[in-house]
Amino acid sequence: RPMFSQIPDSDLPSTVKTSFKITVVGVGNVGMACAQTCLTEDLVDELALVDIQADKLRGEMLDLQHAAAFLPRVKIVADCSYAVSAGSDICIVTAGARQREGETRLSLLDRNLSLFKSIIPELVRHSPDTILLIVSNPVDILTHLSWKLSGLPPNRVIGTGTNLDSSRLRFLIADKFDVNAHNIHGYMVGEHGDSSVPLWSSLTVANVPVLNLYDKNGVKYTKETLKEFHEAVVGSAYQVIKLKGYTSWAIGYSTASLVKSLLRDQRRIHPVSVRAKGFYGIEHDVYLSLPSQLGRAGVLGVANLPLEEDEMQELQQSAKAIWETQNKLHF
Ligand code: NAI
Ligand code: 2OP
Repeated sequence: RPMFSQIPDSDLPSTVKTSFKITVVGVGNVGMACAQTCLTEDLVDELALVDIQADKLRGEMLDLQHAAAFLPRVKIVADCSYAVSAGSDICIVTAGARQREGETRLSLLDRNLSLFKSIIPELVRHSPDTILLIVSNPVDILTHLSWKLSGLPPNRVIGTGTNLDSSRLRFLIADKFDVNAHNIHGYMVGEHGDSSVPLWSSLTVANVPVLNLYDKNGVKYTKETLKEFHEAVVGSAYQVIKLKGYTSWAIGYSTASLVKSLLRDQRRIHPVSVRAKGFYGIEHDVYLSLPSQLGRAGVLGVANLPLEEDEMQELQQSAKAIWETQNKLHF
């Protein structure tokens, strides 16, 4: 079978732009971490910020503008009106409620649903060619909603998904082997959050399968001993929220890495939230994370990894869990 299942109509646009505009909606902890990381990584020529809090918005804009002598030349604008976002190549949506201590991502749905109904049509009206990159939680359901509200093709509506969970997993395993996390190849897929699925059968340390490998302390890695890593990843956000009130830096870097693959047509594979129906035997019409190839046109394809039976079942379960929650809504 082919390495990738191609997404139809995902060819590069006929004209290749060299200057990029990004809009960030929501200038809270996460929005500003995304904005700052995109600036630092020199991914943007014009940055537009949108929020409903006019003073905070202007304060954040000025604070970033005052870094002009230390950053590449960037135009930074901000307004409560979406007109400021016009002509964006990517719109990153981070607006909305976040979890309080112990609260699940899914519990945010009611609060964030109505915001999205006002945000997404406005973004698309001003930037019909944009890629939407959704960060607000619950990210999988809100990305599905954004796709519906936007009228855009699904390959241009993407959720940050388990790109973050996968980095958390790679960090934890890298630490045990005392190697760079870049040498850990592997994905978490499914829901960003509680029903996420680690793909142990394809996870490698410097190209050696992790299953049956011994770490630096002589611990043999089996599906049983690896369970605690998955639990730690699922518990990561709850832990950080308990300690500092919110998570921000890791999602900022995760988002910038996705922006880089998209705008610079890097064609790297990221586990991100995509319209999953038809891939890996998923029948529900849900967004969830699958290893996806990203380029200037958005999602170019979904990688066909060989999954073991239990991994396939867990992925189906994750799809079902998302679908059951989503199905209660009337979009
Ligand atoms: P925050 O409370 O610091 O910021 C939220 C911002 O959204 C505020 O500035 C608020 O004024 C703005 N906002 C509210 N309604 C708006 C509207 N209608 N239009 C424009 N802006 C509006 O929250 P934080 O910590 O930045 O989190 C934001 C979201 O990101 C939450 O839903 C959180 O769960 C999610 N998140 C997602 C992650 C992921 O991996 N997908 C990681 C971390 C957070
Ligand atoms: C995170 O995983 C809370 O979804 C957010 O950091």
